Amino acid sequence: MKFATEAIHTSYNPDEHNRAIMPPIYQNSMFCMKEIGEDIPFRYARIANPTRTILENTLASLEHGCAGFAYASGMAGIDAIWRTFLRPGDTIVAVADIYGGAYDLLTGIYAAWGVNVLFADLSDAHALDKILAENTVKMLWLETPSNPLLRLVDIEVLAAKAKKHGVLVGVDNTFATPYLQNPLDLGADVVFHSATKYLGGHSDVLMGAAVVKNPELANALRSTTINTGAIAGPMDCALVLRGIKTLAVRMDKHQQNAAELARRLQQHEAVEKVFYPGLPEHEHHELAKKQMRGFGGVVSVYLKNNSRKAANTVIKHMELVQMASSLGGVESLVNHSASQSHSGMSAEVKTALGIREGLLRFSVGIEDIDDIWHDIQTALNQLNR
Ligand SMILES: Cc1ncc(COP(=O)(O)O)c(C=O)c1O
Repeated sequence: MKFATEAIHTSYNPDEHNRAIMPPIYQNSMFCMKEIGEDIPFRYARIANPTRTILENTLASLEHGCAGFAYASGMAGIDAIWRTFLRPGDTIVAVADIYGGAYDLLTGIYAAWGVNVLFADLSDAHALDKILAENTVKMLWLETPSNPLLRLVDIEVLAAKAKKHGVLVGVDNTFATPYLQNPLDLGADVVFHSATKYLGGHSDVLMGAAVVKNPELANALRSTTINTGAIAGPMDCALVLRGIKTLAVRMDKHQQNAAELARRLQQHEAVEKVFYPGLPEHEHHELAKKQMRGFGGVVSVYLKNNSRKAANTVIKHMELVQMASSLGGVESLVNHSASQSHSGMSAEVKTALGIREGLLRFSVGIEDIDDIWHDIQTALNQLNR
């Protein structure tokens, strides 16, 4: 089956659920047993719930893995993965331009727990050779395209280097979605999503998702997940299952709009630089063409006037495009990364990563592109007054 078909039909058989066309919401915490020791598929919903199982199998299928896991939020999912595979004294190497919340979790909690945390610019894959030669690394954590500057790293090349040193490779695939990129096929061991974003797709659910490559990894992650219990509830699982059914058609429209918006933004005199992997000028355009099946729905810009005041002027003058911390919903949104998603980073780290005051990240929705552009253009025009 091709992706769009698989997203609708995989891992669900109506015959097993009273012929219900849509997966039912099993709003149950437990399932009864007829006698001691009876072997039943579901007992207690922290361990497994039928609605969650359908979603987890769907995720595993779309990400070409052997098992999927659904968590109460993206951060709960990242924490479950890291807590499963890292111990005090272990070293994790993460891409420098990692999502702000993941950065905070590593620097604030894992470092205090005794994990050595190294951040590295891995856009040149050779940078990993030196790190692997000088450190005993347990895990490599990639995020590509990254948030908010849409930088890419070469999953296949980096994973091959990591494998030679027995390093586990995890990839945050939130921005690309399984429609556009499958990290497990490129050598990763674990793929992660903030399902809050494109998988849910309607800004009405928080969820994390993980898919692993082999049964050994699955058993380890299952044990953490069951014992720590940050699992997704059945209602949320039903919402994400519904979101996934339209993922292909939404992503097509998101990226069609994003590509057009990126081109129009490039022409605007208030804009210094546009970041979108689909632009031929983008520093990782060739890698995006090799590694992804499209360029995604996020576009970021540097305003010529690199100030919080200018960014705020644009934000305040948009009516359709709301300012919000998230992305990946049907509606267009703007994010001021310096004060929102990446506010936990020090000024020095933000400067090193290029997270400026005059940086705006647009999550381009599926509205009509002319309406989106009219709103953004009207706001940008305020800067030239
Ligand atoms: C790339 C990326 N990873 C992880 C997360 C965390 O996910 P959640 O907010 O669902 O906990 C986010 C949220 O913005 C994200 O953008």
